[in-house]
Amino acid sequence: MRRILILWLCTASLSAFGERLSNPRTEERVGRLIRNMTLEEKIGQMTQRSGRGGVKAFREEIRLGRIGSILNEVDADSVNALQRIAVEESPNGIPLLIGRDVIHGFRTIFPIPLGLAATWNPALVEKGARIAAVEAASSGVHWTFAPMMDIARDPRWGRIAEGFGEDPYLAAVMSVAMIRGFQGDDLSGPASLAACAKHFAGYGAAEGGRDYNTVMMSENELRDVYLPPFRASVDAGCATFMAAFNELNGVPASGSSFLFRRILRDEWGFEGFVVSDWASITQMVPHGFAADHKQAAEKAIRAGIDMEMQTDSYVAHIRELLDEGRITMAMIDEAVANILRVKFAMGLFERPYTDASLFPPLLNAEHLESAKQAALQSAVLLKNNGVLPLSGNLKRLAVIGPLADAPHEQLGTWVFDGRAEDAVTPLAALRSRLPNGPHVDYVQTLAYSRDRDTRNFGRAVKAAKKSDAVLLFLGEEAILSGEAHCRADLNLPGAQDALVDAIRKTGRPVVLVILAGRPLTIGHLLDRVDAVLYAFHPGTMAGPALADLLFGTESPSGKLTVTFPKVVGQIPMYYNHKNTGRPPRAESWVHIDAIEVGVWQTSLGNESHYLDAGFLPEFPFGYGLSYTAFDYRNLKLSSGTIRHGDSLTVAADIRNTGSLAADEIVQLYIRDRVGDITRPVKELKGFRRIRLEPGETRTVRFTLKTEDLAFHNRKMEFVTEPGWFHVWIGPNSAEGLRGEFEIVQ
Ligand code: GLC
Repeated sequence: MRRILILWLCTASLSAFGERLSNPRTEERVGRLIRNMTLEEKIGQMTQRSGRGGVKAFREEIRLGRIGSILNEVDADSVNALQRIAVEESPNGIPLLIGRDVIHGFRTIFPIPLGLAATWNPALVEKGARIAAVEAASSGVHWTFAPMMDIARDPRWGRIAEGFGEDPYLAAVMSVAMIRGFQGDDLSGPASLAACAKHFAGYGAAEGGRDYNTVMMSENELRDVYLPPFRASVDAGCATFMAAFNELNGVPASGSSFLFRRILRDEWGFEGFVVSDWASITQMVPHGFAADHKQAAEKAIRAGIDMEMQTDSYVAHIRELLDEGRITMAMIDEAVANILRVKFAMGLFERPYTDASLFPPLLNAEHLESAKQAALQSAVLLKNNGVLPLSGNLKRLAVIGPLADAPHEQLGTWVFDGRAEDAVTPLAALRSRLPNGPHVDYVQTLAYSRDRDTRNFGRAVKAAKKSDAVLLFLGEEAILSGEAHCRADLNLPGAQDALVDAIRKTGRPVVLVILAGRPLTIGHLLDRVDAVLYAFHPGTMAGPALADLLFGTESPSGKLTVTFPKVVGQIPMYYNHKNTGRPPRAESWVHIDAIEVGVWQTSLGNESHYLDAGFLPEFPFGYGLSYTAFDYRNLKLSSGTIRHGDSLTVAADIRNTGSLAADEIVQLYIRDRVGDITRPVKELKGFRRIRLEPGETRTVRFTLKTEDLAFHNRKMEFVTEPGWFHVWIGPNSAEGLRGEFEIVQ
C-alpha cells in the first residue's frame, strides 16, 4: 500500500513570541512601589538566600524586607508561612519568589536534558516541563533555574548532561519548548513557573571540559554558536536569566556589561531579571577581576546582575558604593524594577500563597506515562546485528550489571525532589513481564559503576551461559556527571569493560544497554556485543521504557545531539566544524600501525587528521538506528535560485522499507559554501519526527527562509550573503540527499 501524504512542514520557529513582561499597568505599579521602598528593602529584593531547611533563620530578615527570594524550600506549608510574613508583616508586603532547580522533572523525573534532546520532540519536552511545573508549583515553587542551554562540544564536561548538546538550532528549539512548558500560556497561572535561561554565556566552552574553567572565543563564535538558544529564549518570553561562572575572554560573566547590558538588554530587549549563579559575584575575587567583595558587588551591579544568589556582597556593600558614588540609585532602582516586574507578571501580589489542593497528585499515572514516553524516545540505538528486538518466546534472560537495578542512578544528575523509591528499574520491569516473559537471572556483578571487584564475574558468566540472551546494563552512576563532575577518561568506569569481555566469551547474544550522563568512548566494545542501546539517564520510568524497547513494543527512535568521539584525544569533535584548508580525506589517511618504518617525513597525507585516530567520530551528531529501515529519495527544491526575503522549500520522500512501524527523525542541513568568514561544513536548520507504517512513503517538506541562513560577519552584522549553498535532507549529519541552490542579490 502506498500512501503519499503531503506534509507542509515549517522548520520549528525560533522566534516564538511569549507574552511581554512589561506593560503600562505593570510599570506604573512597579514605579509606585519603588517610590515607597527604603534602600534596605531595595537591597532585600536583590538578595536571594538558600533555604535547605534552615528558613527559620530568615523569618526576621523577611519581616524587615531584607530578602526577596528563597531557593531550596519546597514544602508548601513552610513556603506559605514565610510568604505570610513577607506579605503581611514586611514594610511593603512584597511577596517572596521561591526558586528551585527543577531541571528534568520535580518528583516525576524525566530523562536528563541530553536525553530529552535526543527525542528531537519539542512537544514532548514541553509536556515534560509542564508536568514538572505542575508538580513543583504544588510544592510552593514559583521559579525554576532551567532550561540550561549551554552548547557543549566536550563530553569531558560533566554538565553536558544538563543541556541539549552541540547544536545551536536544536538547543534553541528545545529551550523554547521547555520555557513554554514551564511558563505555560499564562505566567500568572497557579501552575506556572518562571523559567531561567542559563548560564549566560559560553559556559559549555570551558577549557579542557573542566567545569568553571576559562572560556576564550571570538565574538562570531559566541554569537553564532553559543547565543542562539538564549536569544530564542528572550523572544519566547523567558522571565529570568542566570549569569555563568566562567570568564569570557578575560571578563567573568557576572561582571560583563557586554553580555548583560549590551547584548541582553540593548540588543535583545530583555525585560525580566538576571540572577547571579551561586556565589558567582564574589567569585570574581578568585577570578582576579575584583580586589574584594565590595568591588565585585560594584562590577556586578554595573554589569546588570539584578539579584545575588546566596552570597551577601550586595547586602554588605551597596550602601557604601552609593555613598561613594561608585554606583547610582538609578542602577539599584533598575535592578529592583526588573525583579518586581517579574513578580507582578507572575501574579504573586494577587496570589502569593500556594493551595496544594488545586493540584493533581504528584507521580500520577499521566505524569508517569509522559515520563515513560520521554524515556522511550530518548534512547538511541547505536548498533544492532538483528538480536533486537528480543523474541517474545525467549525462555531465560540473564540481566547483568550495576545499572540494571539502580533506581538512584537512573534518575541522573540534578535531581533534588525525585526519589529512588519512585523509580522503576529495568530489572523490575523485565521481571514484571513474567509469567509471559522470560525467566530472569539477575547478577549485579559490580556493586556500582566504578567498582573494580571482579569476584562476582563467575556468577555472571554462569548466568549468561544458561541464558538465551544477556542484557548488560552498564554505564555511569549519576554522580559522575553534572556540576563539577568532569572526567578525563570517558571509558566505562571500574571493571565494566572487563565484564563485557567476560560475558562475550560465553558466546551468548549480548545486548549492551548504557545509562550515562554523557557520550562515552565505547568503540572498542562494539565488536564484542550484538547491540548497543544508549539510554543516557532515563529517569523514573527507565525500566518500563527500556523493556518496551528491548522487546520491540516500540522501536528505538532517539538520535544523538552530541558527537561521540572514538577516543578522548579527538575532543573537541563536533559536526558543525569548519572545513580548514586541508580537510581530511579517507584516501589520505594512513593508520599509525600501517606506516612503513623509515618513510620520508612528507610521505603521509598532510591533512587535518590523527595518525592514530583518524578524523571521524564513533557516532555523528543526529545518528540513531531503528528496528526498521528508512529510504530517502527524490530530493526536490522549489527553485535553484532565490532572492533575499524569498523562501525555499526542500522536500524528500522517506519510505519505511521494513516490517515494523516506527518513528524517523528527518533532518535538514545546509552549508554556506563561501562567507565573509568561513562557515561550518554543515548546519542543522530543521528537523521533524514522523511516524511511518511498514511500506509507507511520506513526502517531508521544509521551508527555508533566507534569514535562516544569516550569520555574523567580520563587522558583526547579522547577514545572509549571496552565493551558493548545499542543502541536505537525511537521517543524520553524516548522510543525506544533497542539493544546491544560489541566493542572488
Ligand atoms: C549551581 C548551578 C546553577 C544552579 C544554582 C542553584 O551552582 O551552577 O545551575 O541553578 O547553583 O542551585
